[in-house]
Amino acid sequence: MKIPVNEPLVGEREIEYVLDCLRTGWISSAGKYLEAFEEAWANYCGMRYGVAVSNGTTALQIAVRAAGVGPGDEVIMPSFTIISCAQAVTYNGGVPMLVDSEPRTWCMDVSQLEARITPRTKAIMPVHIYGHPVDMDEVTRLAKSHHLLVIEDAAEAHGAEYLSGRQADQPVWLRCGGIGDLSAFSFYANKLVTTGEGGMVLTNDPQIAAHLRSLRNLCFRPEKRFLHTELGHNFRLTNLQAAIGLAQVERMPETIHKKRWMGETYTRRLRHIPGLSLPVEESWARQVYWMYGLVLDESTGLNAADLARKLGERGIETRPFFLGMHEQPVFTSQGLFKGEKYPVAERIARQGLYLPSGLTLTESQLDEVCLAVEEVLANP
Ligand SMILES: Cc1ncc(COP(=O)(O)O)c(C=O)c1O
Repeated sequence: MKIPVNEPLVGEREIEYVLDCLRTGWISSAGKYLEAFEEAWANYCGMRYGVAVSNGTTALQIAVRAAGVGPGDEVIMPSFTIISCAQAVTYNGGVPMLVDSEPRTWCMDVSQLEARITPRTKAIMPVHIYGHPVDMDEVTRLAKSHHLLVIEDAAEAHGAEYLSGRQADQPVWLRCGGIGDLSAFSFYANKLVTTGEGGMVLTNDPQIAAHLRSLRNLCFRPEKRFLHTELGHNFRLTNLQAAIGLAQVERMPETIHKKRWMGETYTRRLRHIPGLSLPVEESWARQVYWMYGLVLDESTGLNAADLARKLGERGIETRPFFLGMHEQPVFTSQGLFKGEKYPVAERIARQGLYLPSGLTLTESQLDEVCLAVEEVLANP
C-alpha cells in the first residue's frame, strides 16, 4: 500500500537506549530501563505503580485477575471493543456483561451501566475507544455506590484527558489510565507509545501492584522462590523493549501534538462531505486520535467494506471497526449474549473504518487520503 494505515516512529533516543542494553548485557526482564519505564509511564498517567508486561492482552488478563474476578463473576464492558477485553474475563472464569456504544464517541454508553449491575458484578471495564475518553464520572459513581472495581482499558488512549468532577466545584483534568482502580495499556507498534510488543498495568494500590508483579512472573515467592501457592504466567517484558518505551514516553508531548494536528486536519478537510460521521471531541475530553475513524451514513449507498476496497485500489490502507462481542461466533457458540442486540455497535461495525493515522503520516499523504474519500463518495 502506498499510504499505510500506521507506521511506528522510532527515534535516535530509542536506538541509544537499546544499544546501552546490548552493550551492558541487560537484555532480559530485569534492568534499569524496565524500572524507569514503569515509573515514567505511571507518573505520566498519574498512578503510583506500573507493572510492565508482554502485551495489552496479558495486561488485561492479570488486571482482571488482580481485581479478584473469578468463576461466575461479572464484568461490564462495551460490546464494541477488541476481543482481549472479553477474553481477559472469560479466561479468569468470569462473564462479560455488555452495554452498547454511544453514537458520537463510539465509547460505552454509560447510561446503560446501572441496568447491567447484578449481585455477581465485580467490575466495570470502560474502554477509551480510538483515543476518546469514556465519560468516566458516571462509571466511578456507580462503582463506588455498588462496591465495584474499575478496570480502565486505556490501550488506545495514551495521553488522552478527561475532565472529572465537572458537576462539582473543582473539575480536574485526569489522564486516561489514571482514573480507575487499575488500568491496562498496550504498547503494540501502532500505539502512541510503542515497545514493539508490550503492555502495562497501573494502579495506586500497593497490594494489587504486588499481586500483579507476582502474576506476571509465574508467582515465584520472594521468600521461597520455587514454592507456589498460586498459578501465574510468564508475561514479562524485556529491558530492551522497555528501553524503546522509555524513549517514547519522553517524546509524548510531540507525539500528542502530531496526533492532534492529524485529527484536526482530517476533520477540517472532511467535514463538508455529506454522509460522514467524524470523530468528535466532547467538551469534557481531550482526545488523541489514536486512529482517525469515520462512519458512513447508509444514504451514501456504501458500507465500510466498499469504501475500504475503493480506497485500497488507490493504494490507501484502512482497517474496519471492531465487530461487537455479541456477534462473535466464538462466544455465541458457547451460549453467551443470546438474543442480545446492540444497535449502535452493530451499525458502526458495518459502516465504520479508520484511515491512515500513523505518526509518520505527512500532510500530502493526508491530503491524498481526503481527496480519495471525497472522490469515492462523489461516485459511489
Ligand atoms: C482497546 C484495546 N485493548 C487491548 C488491546 C490489546 O493489546 P495487544 O495487542 O498489545 O495485546 C488492544 C490492541 O490494540 C486494544 O485496542
